[in-house]
Amino acid sequence: MSYPYQIKSLEQYHEAYAQSIKNPENFWGDVAGHFQWRRRWDKVLDWNFTEPKIEWFKGAKLNITENCIDRHLENFGNRPAIIWEPNDPEEHHRIITYRDLYNKVCQFANVLKNNGVKKGDRVCIYMGMIPELAIAVLACARIGAVHSVIFGGFSAQSISDRLYDAQSEYIITCDGAYRGAKDIPLKSVIDDALIGNRTVKRVIVCTRTRTAVSMIKGRDVWWEDEIKKIETLGMTDCPAEEMDAEDPLFILYTSGSTGKPKGVVHANAGYMVYTNYSFVNVFQYQPGDIHFCTADIGWITGHSYIVYGPLSAGATSLMFEGVPTWPDAGRFWEIIDKFSVNILYTAPTAIRSLMGFGLGPLQGKKLNSLKVLGTVGEPINEEAWHWYDEHIGNGKCPIVDTWWQTETGGILISNLAGITPSRPSWATLPMPGVEPILVDENGKEVTGEGEVSGNLCIKSPWPSIIRTTYGDHDRCKKNYFSTYPELYFTGDGALRDAEGNYRITGRVDDVLNVSGHRIGTAEVENAINMHAGVVESAVVGYPHDIKGQGIYAYVIYNGTHGDEALRRKDILQTVTRIIGPIAKPDKIQFVSGLPKTRSGKIMRRILRKIAEGETENLGDITTLLDPGVVEEIKNGKI
Ligand code: WT7
Repeated sequence: MSYPYQIKSLEQYHEAYAQSIKNPENFWGDVAGHFQWRRRWDKVLDWNFTEPKIEWFKGAKLNITENCIDRHLENFGNRPAIIWEPNDPEEHHRIITYRDLYNKVCQFANVLKNNGVKKGDRVCIYMGMIPELAIAVLACARIGAVHSVIFGGFSAQSISDRLYDAQSEYIITCDGAYRGAKDIPLKSVIDDALIGNRTVKRVIVCTRTRTAVSMIKGRDVWWEDEIKKIETLGMTDCPAEEMDAEDPLFILYTSGSTGKPKGVVHANAGYMVYTNYSFVNVFQYQPGDIHFCTADIGWITGHSYIVYGPLSAGATSLMFEGVPTWPDAGRFWEIIDKFSVNILYTAPTAIRSLMGFGLGPLQGKKLNSLKVLGTVGEPINEEAWHWYDEHIGNGKCPIVDTWWQTETGGILISNLAGITPSRPSWATLPMPGVEPILVDENGKEVTGEGEVSGNLCIKSPWPSIIRTTYGDHDRCKKNYFSTYPELYFTGDGALRDAEGNYRITGRVDDVLNVSGHRIGTAEVENAINMHAGVVESAVVGYPHDIKGQGIYAYVIYNGTHGDEALRRKDILQTVTRIIGPIAKPDKIQFVSGLPKTRSGKIMRRILRKIAEGETENLGDITTLLDPGVVEEIKNGKI
């Protein structure tokens, strides 16, 4: 496969950028011309940010799996599509060629059909990082079912909420998942999530850990048995469902500033075109390169840069089941040498954690196949950037710092590897088709000669922009398109230098970024408040050496049970039950009151400063109902 739309020089970048802004329809129409369509579009773009209504490639018909699989078969059916490395280095890896992938996706798509799944049905996927997860995702897309992948670290309660919100009737899961030294009993979590559920008709269970599971008659079936049925029926191919450009492809839940996660909806055509375009350009992918994105498919990074972006480009995507530090902190480096990985895409939190192990785990590792390094999910500090550059890239691999969000579907601001300049801790320039703008609190555009700062918004749509929040379009409008009229608001703050480079400074709303995972403070507070002994709580972020941000919880407790240590554990257990282990506070401070204004609003600014270790400049506290509480909180800081 060749990529005629791959930018090859700085000059070409400026040229492409200018064209994309001057005439977005021509620009994206040209890019889209390189994909496989059942029918071409009537209009490239129709939009307004008021409703919002965004339609890309309107009238076009396609199936994304024909672009990710079928079209590669003729010329490179034998090329590896997915290389899978298991958790345990002693276990054998698997290589799945495009031909294999075609067969497996068709087979499982037939299983889904055979179990009653139809176009438009929502299918919840709760699996570990095994090839069957990618197969399940693609099989849904093949028959036009809307997948909703839930990360394996979410609790039964979180799954139950998401099942209900999406009204999912089907679940695909595994008996269990391996992650480092741990065994996660996925099916048993699903069983808990299904207590009282009357909507789910079928649970398909794939075997991985062979842990004991209870299979409920009439509801639960084994993946392997269902495949056998399909084989007996002699069903090999599965014709791809013809989808409208704007039909939903998937739902992915993400946290916002309210207590309830939102189901971000992405549409078929625009998402396909943009994940492919950004993949090919940001990483400068060359045919034959091995691309290793270390994210989990449960997050948007895995959707876009393990599955859809790479596969639509005919690339080889490496999928890793395990964690960076097990059996030791050399695991990533070992994998890179084992498969001669060319592109490594990971999170700053992983880099910082591996940095902490020193250079020992790098001993004897060559890493000389690497050409491009990438980071995503949170700001990268300069120290980690330089360590990554020097010790992993050997000073010769460009680092792309890619800024984007679940809602943006693909990378919006990033340097292009080796083409546009990189700069430590700056995401740098917008991708073609992306028009960032900085505004102040009142929505007024921030302009100026030198470095300026403001709230980061985007002026016009790119192809993979969020279409709606599932089942509640008003929420989408309110969350993203109403803070500043006629702009998409990202929730992030940013700096811009005189050359137009962006540096993302972090969230300006009540959303935390813990190890690159997005967690709403309100969500954590709700979970803490579920604990019987808790009266009230307030959660803020604080700088954490490895996680980027840690979770600091101030809790008013009036229960009688146990001592402080036990109460802490009970609260952590409650959060694990309600959200999942990823949302557990790092610190819990018991307080007798919270700093509130006379109108009852918690002054988080003060709590944030105290959590950050600031004791002097807490700002004006005279408007507080009880200023005395601040002193107590300061003295009790942990
Ligand atoms: C938030 C989105 C999109 C991939 C994974 C996270 C932060 C993301 C960067 C970056 C600084 C970044 C932002 C953003 N973020 N990439 N390169 N530099 N911050 O997706 O869970 O939707 O979170 O992650 O704060 O808003 P997400």
